Amino acid sequence: MSEPERQKVTAPWVRSRKRRQGADPVVWVTAYDEPWARLVDRAGVDVILVGDTLAEIVLGYEDTLHVDVDVMAHHVAAVARARPRALVVGDMPWMSYHLEPSDAVRNAARLVRAGAGAVKLEGGHQRLGAVEAILAAEIPVIGHLGLTPQSVHAMGGYRVQGRQVEAAARLVEDARLLSDAGCTAVVLEGVPDVVAERITAEIAAPTIGIGAGAACDGQVLVLHDLLGMTARTPPKFVRRYADVGQVVVDAVSRYCDDVRASRFPAEEETYHGSDDLRRALGG
Ligand code: KIV
Repeated sequence: MSEPERQKVTAPWVRSRKRRQGADPVVWVTAYDEPWARLVDRAGVDVILVGDTLAEIVLGYEDTLHVDVDVMAHHVAAVARARPRALVVGDMPWMSYHLEPSDAVRNAARLVRAGAGAVKLEGGHQRLGAVEAILAAEIPVIGHLGLTPQSVHAMGGYRVQGRQVEAAARLVEDARLLSDAGCTAVVLEGVPDVVAERITAEIAAPTIGIGAGAACDGQVLVLHDLLGMTARTPPKFVRRYADVGQVVVDAVSRYCDDVRASRFPAEEETYHGSDDLRRALGG
């Protein structure tokens, strides 16, 4: 018997996934194009995040500041073409929500028109105006606090955030603001486990951890990190589930060997012309 068709994941469903209310942890992963979106959806993830890590992971930039709304929309559309059951979340790139709230709404709408069912943006109280304006336009918003990569220069590098009591208290307050505003979920990146635990206990929205310990309501990883496809040394919080990079190198080197040794293509990989055609061509 075929597996019963699973329902499309929606933003309200994600918002309801608090572990303290008995929900299982929610599974998020990044993807940036159609083939990978199709595969991770088949694997059963709940949310596909078209993250601005696209800049580093796929486009080879040093940080996430190098992609704009055009680029993000292009990749959101590619992921959406996989027609996943998972919710597609489009990441709002740096400077797409930092000026006027009306700009933020327009940019969020571009990601929705490209196929996103929700958008994610970084920051707490400083971004509340943008968050509220996007929510007022009926677009679900995911918050993102802690080690927010778009703040790399302001943070002086990629550092765990909220290690001091005051900074931790500010994170708890920001998470409360985002949750009370109606965010679908709050991603917590690079924060001590106890801070994530406190926030998870405090707010109504589910918390999604990345380098934030085990207490969160869900987890997210960058796909290429978990598959072993990145050149960078993965951060401490990454668990590598496969060495797909090596699988690719092995397969492509066998292809190189076969072409160079005239073993590819073989008869069965060739379209054969008729004898008449061969004769007509002077063969
Ligand atoms: O852009 C991204 O991939 C992200 C995750 C690391 C949470 O924001």
